[in-house]
Amino acid sequence: MTKMKVNPWEVEGSVDYEKLTKKFGTTKIPDSIYKELQDCHPLLRRGIYFSHRDFDKWLKAHEEGKKVSVITGRGPSEKMHIGHLVPFLVAKSLQDKFGCDVYIPISDDEKFFIKKNLTFEESIKYSEDNILDLIALGFDPKKTFIFEDFVYTDIYKYAAQISKRITYSMAKAIFGLTPEKNIGWSFYPAMQAAHILFPQFHSKKHISVVPVAIDQDPFIRLTRDIASQKDIALTKPAALHAKFLPSLHGEAKMSSSGTGLIFLSDDAKTVKKKINKYAFSGGQKTTEEHREKGGNTEVDVSFQYLRMLFEESDEKLEEIKTKYESGELLTGELKAILIEKISAFLKDHQKRKQEAKKNIDKFILKN
Ligand code: TRP
Repeated sequence: MTKMKVNPWEVEGSVDYEKLTKKFGTTKIPDSIYKELQDCHPLLRRGIYFSHRDFDKWLKAHEEGKKVSVITGRGPSEKMHIGHLVPFLVAKSLQDKFGCDVYIPISDDEKFFIKKNLTFEESIKYSEDNILDLIALGFDPKKTFIFEDFVYTDIYKYAAQISKRITYSMAKAIFGLTPEKNIGWSFYPAMQAAHILFPQFHSKKHISVVPVAIDQDPFIRLTRDIASQKDIALTKPAALHAKFLPSLHGEAKMSSSGTGLIFLSDDAKTVKKKINKYAFSGGQKTTEEHREKGGNTEVDVSFQYLRMLFEESDEKLEEIKTKYESGELLTGELKAILIEKISAFLKDHQKRKQEAKKNIDKFILKN
């Protein structure tokens, strides 16, 4: 088996999340925090967000009536798939519950530097498309600020001030490599640190939380180091770390190539075909065997998608789990439940994306 490798640019091997929290020095989310998130999105309630930095301080600041905010970004190198939604659904859920501002930087520069064949024009085009997908999630236009690095060039002055504080040896220590394929890529971490501190540059000094997949934590560590330097003196950002959404085949991360993913633009027919054909099953080989032994919900991808994203009701999820594990529910029937849920979600989403075109101006920050 390939060795585990997790950094913002590579995820390889089977991912040991326990080990990662130790390696990165983050804290597992304790029950006392989960308790406060019981009415939030399933991603927050069911342990998919499993680790944090200072989120207890964020909650406390909110409780004391102080300003808090959420910041999480999107690297737009392609059309979005359901795995890409994870941090944004959480941002929306936190906005709904805590009434806070949400900042969404679009790092078109990042993807442009990293992807050899991505042209400048394409990266701008994907940004525009992805922004509509994000607005379609239903963020509050009065409290949501979206900006694109190539368009909201004001961000550069913050990135410049940050970049001067990042030495190559710091970058190497934090990322495990210097992102050195070209100098744009080397500079990019300063940009992402500027994104993460932007809520404080834009508004006032306050605590912001960054919901992200755990591979992005090195950026947070870097930003926290810089925030606390004397002459910047901003609040260290908090973080909430997610596990990856598995691909249909059951690989740790839904990656952008291959057949293991569902795009937000897929129609019902495509969703049905993909899930029936590719979704890794925890069921038994034959119906008789399945009735006898039951299925394994731990490895079954359809069940994981229901748990992470598509079955809101805890009771219904529990019922599906019990029935599948006892063999009462067959793999085909479990898949049918998921197909129904995803198709309904996507149909709605695609409609809201069309409507988002009219509202886009309300969300975009101007230079
Ligand atoms: N680098 C992130 C990704 O590839 C996207 C991103 C850009 C981001 N700016 C950010 C994430 C700020 C969190 C905070 O997915």
